[in-house]
Amino acid sequence: MQQTREICPGVHWVGALNASLRVFDIIMKTDWGTTYNSYLVQGERTALIDTVHADFTPEFLAKLESVIPLEKLDYLIISHTEMDHSGSVAALLLRAPHLEVFGTKSALHLLKNIANVDFKGHPISDNEVLDLGAGKTLRFIPSPFWHWPDSMFTYLESDGLLFPCDGFATHYCDERLFEDRMPDFTAESKFYFDHIMRPYKDKVPAGCAKVRALPALRMICPSHGPMLRQNPMRIVDLWDEWARPEPKQGKEVAILYASAYGATKAMAESLLAGIEASGVRTSVVDLTKAPVEEWLSAMERADGILLGSPTLNGDAVKPVWDAIALTALVNTKGKRWGAFGSYGWSGEATKLLLDRMKGLKFAIAEDRLTAILIPSAEELSKCAEYGQQFAASLQ
Ligand code: FEO
Repeated sequence: MQQTREICPGVHWVGALNASLRVFDIIMKTDWGTTYNSYLVQGERTALIDTVHADFTPEFLAKLESVIPLEKLDYLIISHTEMDHSGSVAALLLRAPHLEVFGTKSALHLLKNIANVDFKGHPISDNEVLDLGAGKTLRFIPSPFWHWPDSMFTYLESDGLLFPCDGFATHYCDERLFEDRMPDFTAESKFYFDHIMRPYKDKVPAGCAKVRALPALRMICPSHGPMLRQNPMRIVDLWDEWARPEPKQGKEVAILYASAYGATKAMAESLLAGIEASGVRTSVVDLTKAPVEEWLSAMERADGILLGSPTLNGDAVKPVWDAIALTALVNTKGKRWGAFGSYGWSGEATKLLLDRMKGLKFAIAEDRLTAILIPSAEELSKCAEYGQQFAASLQ
């Protein structure tokens, strides 16, 4: 078991290492594992910032007790309630029911339904300060949608330490804990940003501005991955850069499809011709060949997205359902969606895709575009017309 680490006088890392984790939150691959960071701040009173995943509760409580008896803890600071950080709260509250829990109003509401035990909650106000005595003061800075509505940063003013929870984090497990003691992991940080923050990246600049306004920032202590002390503003600059919308001229359409025998592919090509004839830029992604990153970036950039699937056993095919599932990682606001595909005798795929899009509250083109088996010249001409109409609907 990794021991605790005093990261500056009066502040201990008491988190957990999960080096063997290979998939996070069901869909995100984690080639380098992750850490669940929790921090103990001791003044005359003591605050614990976040907990760890429930799987690590026994070792987490043992670590805490190796630094301080649980009855001596005063406050639990909840930066964000997703269960990789709140998984040990119920067990902790059973052992330390006297704890006063600080968090945003939203976090306290969610925590009630996670811990399912009574606790004394303190909803924080913007920039509220908690004085722990002995010169240790914590400032709370709400930062909604980094990446849940409940999120907040905590700044230990006396030492210049920022605890931004999922902000500036990376799924990267290294027991050396500090970024200056390990190889460069910027690519993993970008991967994390793309998967966790991409749907909310319009919220990132405001959060970064709050960090820039902090006096005397010395170290960023996120909830996952290494602590950043060499040049903490570097990651803030990177997040600002990664959040910037890609420059583009005019509207764009993305056509994502899967095709077994080339029929749905032929429809995609005619759609492309129709859309481009309207002067709208278009990207085409073969979901059976392109990497997932390409799917995501095409969907992220586009104003209109057309998903193509043949009907197989009364359903759309798996890569196309996968693409829809991955829209959870994309900001879908303001985009228009449609469905197309070839079929033999029943043609449920396009209907099912549109139904799913409706369920996700996407703005959709109601007319599904279909062709029977190998599309005829007439059917391909209808595809081109559909493409033109779809492009026009984006203007
Ligand atoms: Fe690391 Fe949103 O949880």
